[in-house]
Amino acid sequence: MGILKNFFTNCAHPKGKMGRIMLSMMNFSHAPLTNWGLNLINFKEGWTMLDIGCGGGATIKRLLKHSKNSKVYGIDISQESVAKSKKNCIDLLDKQVFISQGSAEMLPYESGKFDLVTAVETIYFWPNLPGCFKEVYRVLKPGGRFAVIVEDANKDSVWTNIVEGMTTYSTEQILTMLRDAGFSQTESKNKKPMYNFITGVKA
Ligand SMILES: C[S@@+](CC[C@H](N)C(=O)[O-])C[C@H]1O[C@@H](n2cnc3c(N)ncnc32)[C@H](O)[C@@H]1O
Repeated sequence: MGILKNFFTNCAHPKGKMGRIMLSMMNFSHAPLTNWGLNLINFKEGWTMLDIGCGGGATIKRLLKHSKNSKVYGIDISQESVAKSKKNCIDLLDKQVFISQGSAEMLPYESGKFDLVTAVETIYFWPNLPGCFKEVYRVLKPGGRFAVIVEDANKDSVWTNIVEGMTTYSTEQILTMLRDAGFSQTESKNKKPMYNFITGVKA
């Protein structure tokens, strides 16, 4: 159980060889959830977008396909995730794709920069989630959207016993935090058994 727990800790903060394996697994295993969630967004050409907790960079590549002539920024707290995302997007790096190491708590971008911010399977690990949501609100343009895409929207999840540092939130809790951060047009959509899309727009 110790080994398994150690391995799954790489979901929260991928590190070293096991972290690299986890990132490759997540690029593959999160594809159906991410594709389902992104297909609910009405993308426009030329957007500037940010993927927080970008992991292995698969969502960055999908965002580029959804909005032509766009720019996509990725940020992740893990050095390993940043390296993997950069490798995955090497052709467009520092031209159309910009990847940094950092936390959702303090985003290194000017206010009002992004048309869309996405967070796929990552909010479980953000400290001070209400504060992070306010930070996302700050970096969005007026009219910009925040899309939270998660498999686990059950506040009593079994995964929190397996993955160190993981906290799960119900859809209602996430919607309330979005509203408290200032978001309007908040709504959630789900597909059984466990795909959840929770969103809000900066007024
Ligand atoms: C379960 S992985 C998901 C990765 C990717 N979004 C995907 O769907 O495959 C969670 C990611 O969130 C990152 N992360 C955790 N806490 C973070 C924080 N405070 N700010 C930014 N990224 C964070 C982790 O380093 C990890 O790469």
